[in-house]
Amino acid sequence: MSGFSFVQITDHHLLESEDAMRDGFSPAYSLRMVMRHISEHVASKIDFIVSTGDLVEPELETHYQSAAKLLGVNSSATLPGPQHINIEGLKDFPFYFLPGNHDDRALVTKYFFPESQSPKLYNFSFEHKGVQFVFMDWGPRSKAHFFPETREFLANVLKAEMPSVIVCHQHVKRIGSRWLDAFLAENLNGFWDVVLPRQDNVLGILCGHVHITYEDEYRGVPIYGLSSTAFPFAKVDEPLVILAPPHYRYVRIEDGVMTTRIYKVPI
Ligand SMILES: [Fe+2]
Repeated sequence: MSGFSFVQITDHHLLESEDAMRDGFSPAYSLRMVMRHISEHVASKIDFIVSTGDLVEPELETHYQSAAKLLGVNSSATLPGPQHINIEGLKDFPFYFLPGNHDDRALVTKYFFPESQSPKLYNFSFEHKGVQFVFMDWGPRSKAHFFPETREFLANVLKAEMPSVIVCHQHVKRIGSRWLDAFLAENLNGFWDVVLPRQDNVLGILCGHVHITYEDEYRGVPIYGLSSTAFPFAKVDEPLVILAPPHYRYVRIEDGVMTTRIYKVPI
């Protein structure tokens, strides 16, 4: 199998305009710095960028208009993508997007995949160079929910005799923060009941949501969490925003092994 690489970014929390600030912080500027860093350091080595959601906050039309302009989305595309973006030196760069809890699925579809009907949940799979990417949707609330249709979708796609990467917004295992771990799905065991029997084919799970970068595993399944391109949270029991560089994750898949490294972006 030939190898390839891609980058994950997550939790952009963009506002109604590029100039808008949240508590004195500019999510748009921070995202631009991340995209510039990707452009200058890894773009020539990767096949695509995938965002694991929370593009805007709150999920209003004005915010999506501004976000689409910022990212330089200018082509029609159908689900599951890729869309193509033009920002900070990235030209027509393949870009996948999976909505988070702060995203309106209909508006995401309208601005990123204008040729598609909006699904209720963003459950999709596609193959890239012999690897199956499984985008799964825990729903539009901070607290994840393992929907019956997502369970059915996941069970079905994981039957494929192909190495698979599960990509989702919300986290899938406790990280050790009371308020963030309260957002885990109540029926999380149902998720693992589907994944574990197929774990030999699952290279790993990429997620966002908690604005904290970590690496973990559950019964041998690698789990990779990623900090926000905007503001990170501290791993403590009550909400606490900290000022620290945004991260992105470079992922390489080669000979059935997935390895990653984190880039920290000075802003
Ligand atoms: Fe989130």
